[in-house]
Amino acid sequence: MNKLAFKKCLLIVTGSIAAYKTPDIVRRMRDQGAEVRVVLTSAATEFVTPLALQAVSGNEVRQDLFDHQAEAGMGHIELARWADAIVIAPASADYIAKLSKGSADDLSTAICRASEAPMLIAPAMNQQMWENSFTKEALDVLSEKGFCVCGPDSGSQACGEVGLGRLVEAEILIESIASLFNSGSLAKLRVMVTAGPTREYIDPVRYLTNQSSGKMGYALARAACEAGANVILISGPTNLEPPQGVGVEYISSAKEMASSVSEGIGEIDIFIGCAAVSDYRPEAVSDQKIKKSDSTLSLKLIPNKDILSGVAGLTNAPFTVGFAAETEELERFARDKMTKKGVDMIAANLVDKDGLGFNSDDNEVTVFWENESYVLEKQPKEQLARKLVTLISRVYQKNP
Ligand code: CTP
Repeated sequence: MNKLAFKKCLLIVTGSIAAYKTPDIVRRMRDQGAEVRVVLTSAATEFVTPLALQAVSGNEVRQDLFDHQAEAGMGHIELARWADAIVIAPASADYIAKLSKGSADDLSTAICRASEAPMLIAPAMNQQMWENSFTKEALDVLSEKGFCVCGPDSGSQACGEVGLGRLVEAEILIESIASLFNSGSLAKLRVMVTAGPTREYIDPVRYLTNQSSGKMGYALARAACEAGANVILISGPTNLEPPQGVGVEYISSAKEMASSVSEGIGEIDIFIGCAAVSDYRPEAVSDQKIKKSDSTLSLKLIPNKDILSGVAGLTNAPFTVGFAAETEELERFARDKMTKKGVDMIAANLVDKDGLGFNSDDNEVTVFWENESYVLEKQPKEQLARKLVTLISRVYQKNP
């Protein structure tokens, strides 16, 4: 099981002898599915080379706050936005002290200041330095600010002493990074997500469909699962790997999706309708391939059932979240759709804006509920899904 699948992890390596272990840590993080970028402090370069970390991470290693190569010359902001998680390993005594005082005078500390991502510190230092009250006080400050602390381990140290202060083993570090994403905000809840396009067959070899890739729905299913929910994903045809830990039911047509949804919906607390369901299907499906002729061919289409409004209209309906793909007047059309379909929340996006939407890796949505709204700026769908799940859980907790 890939514990860090689809996670963008920024590793900050500081000046501790344990920095020599970081190429192996990076390799193992990548084996677990993470995309890894590395920032080195100047003290860290005494113990490990940028080239080694570049080779194992497959990405350029950054060291300078003022980087003329970085997008708009602001490498710290670019990396702070990019990271799903920031891992400081090994974190030296000096670095911990500096971070706890709010320094932002080099690339790594500026990134920590500029990022909203969860952060993990893995201390590594001589055992006396670890026992020193300055270290404890600095870590207390960082814990209060939301940093998670992993380790240190006990054992023989590079300086010849024995005690607490060794960098934790790579497996433990990876477990701790993975647990940064397990918010528990949907613990014990059952969530159903629909995703992808549907196919409406005309004959045995032809069908009507749309450009939906399923990426947003799969990312939502993954994020809901990480948030502790028991998740069922009802998916139209996509090229995507099934998300780990999620029960997936594959369907093809809107009718099949509707019947899978209605079979499982009785057990569900939160329904997220992310699929691009075909609004129509051919009235008649030919048993045989339709042969070419010189005359025109008309297809008569009949409407499909609206799955989302069907769910929202149930007695004891779950909390329902819909999507609205619009090309204009986002708020008006999205709120109209929310009222018409009777859903609790709607995530709306402009499909033709900067190529965002159906088939892209990034998305930007405005979420509407009751009289409120919240904009989730343009970002990768995986990141956006985690934020949307957090928002859904907050609104749900108020109206379970
Ligand atoms: N939806 C659904 N069943 C359908 C059509 C849509 O459950 N037969 C759901 C989608 O999963 C999405 C929401 O309805 O959550 C809105 O889909 P969208 O295509 O934006 O809206 P439509 O209802 O199809 O309206 P229109 O195409 O006129 O904008």
